[in-house]
Amino acid sequence: MKIALGVSGGIAAYKAAEIVRLLQERGVRVQVIMTQAAQEFIRPLTFAALSGEKVITGMFSPGEEQEPNISSAIEHIAVAQSIDALVVAPATADILAHFAQGIATDFLTTLYLATTAPVVVAPAMNVNMWNQAATQANMEILRKRGVKIVEPGSGYLACGMTGAGRLAENEAIVAAVLEALGASQDLSGETVLITAGPTREKIDPVRYLTNRSSGRMGYALAEAALRRGARVLLVSGPTSLTAPGGAEMTRVESAEEMRRAMLDLLSQATIVIMTAAVSDYRVKVAADQKIKRKGAMALDLEPTPDILKEITSHKTSQIVIGFAAETTNVLESARQKLIAKNLDAIVVNDVSREGVGFDSERNAVTIISRHEGEVVEVPETTKWDVAQRVLDQVVRLREHRKSAVKA
Ligand code: C5P
Repeated sequence: MKIALGVSGGIAAYKAAEIVRLLQERGVRVQVIMTQAAQEFIRPLTFAALSGEKVITGMFSPGEEQEPNISSAIEHIAVAQSIDALVVAPATADILAHFAQGIATDFLTTLYLATTAPVVVAPAMNVNMWNQAATQANMEILRKRGVKIVEPGSGYLACGMTGAGRLAENEAIVAAVLEALGASQDLSGETVLITAGPTREKIDPVRYLTNRSSGRMGYALAEAALRRGARVLLVSGPTSLTAPGGAEMTRVESAEEMRRAMLDLLSQATIVIMTAAVSDYRVKVAADQKIKRKGAMALDLEPTPDILKEITSHKTSQIVIGFAAETTNVLESARQKLIAKNLDAIVVNDVSREGVGFDSERNAVTIISRHEGEVVEVPETTKWDVAQRVLDQVVRLREHRKSAVKA
């Protein structure tokens, strides 16, 4: 296990020395990266002596200014690929702003863009800087992106003021790093096939039937599975989201296109997660020309194929998870679907609740597993956290299955 520890410029920079030691005690190798400002507070030599590794202090190592060689110029890529987590403690308002906006001006900010490893930040700053709307907006961006934030504590600050902004306790930072590392590779060797977003069922060349699904839940799952070491195949209906880097994308429009893509890809998958809000109905015969407006009209609809049911009837050894959005009789209907669709687990959203579920950044779900009817409640949180809890459950199902095979 190896992490990169970014130290940015603040009074709390000296506390990072203790973090290096605590991580090493747990068998984690630490590559320290210091920003220019951090070097005003503490000397690189301290970290070099503690970590036993060369400390990175800039894009180009000293002595190479006149003739920077290729190896130092691409070092951020090499470091990005070799680490299991990027940790920044203390993280200044400036570093957090750079991360949130994707601005790369030095080694640490470039490394943030270049790495796909989990990222943990422990902010430390003056209370007013922390409470500033700009800082809080940047924190929200990072949180949504899945960056783990070790919240600063309240107390006496070096600037003489009292309030939030103190670097979190070292133990809390180390625990967050270990959690990020523990979760980082438990899906390696798995291929996760995920569907996301709505489908569009054509009525005529300009109109279609669709629903409010944004695709965020499926995209969060794709990104979380990638971070945990899986290969990810993402079959997506139309959304406005950016594809997670590293996911193999298949873009589809209708339920029928989604069905074909899924049946094509199924044999490569070891885990299938269907978050897509597949349209339940489609027009029997879509019009070739735009339908003109005249009095009342009725659409002649037929059901779309139930992709999930077809998948479970074709599957070999895959673990298959379905989603269900319900407004009434939430748990009972979900239990029935778990059986009817022959799933290993079903994730239930109560979409009648305000502010969660469809077209929202947040969600609250119940995960019901086939194995002993286990029920896991995930109270309202970000879709990123929900994705992690769903993947935790996938890992548990895999373990149960392995032990069942052995017995
Ligand atoms: O039956 P219901 O639509 O509530 O089931 C939801 C689950 O079934 C979701 O996982 C969804 O992706 C999947 N589904 C499907 N094909 C359909 C309808 C739903 O695969 N035509």
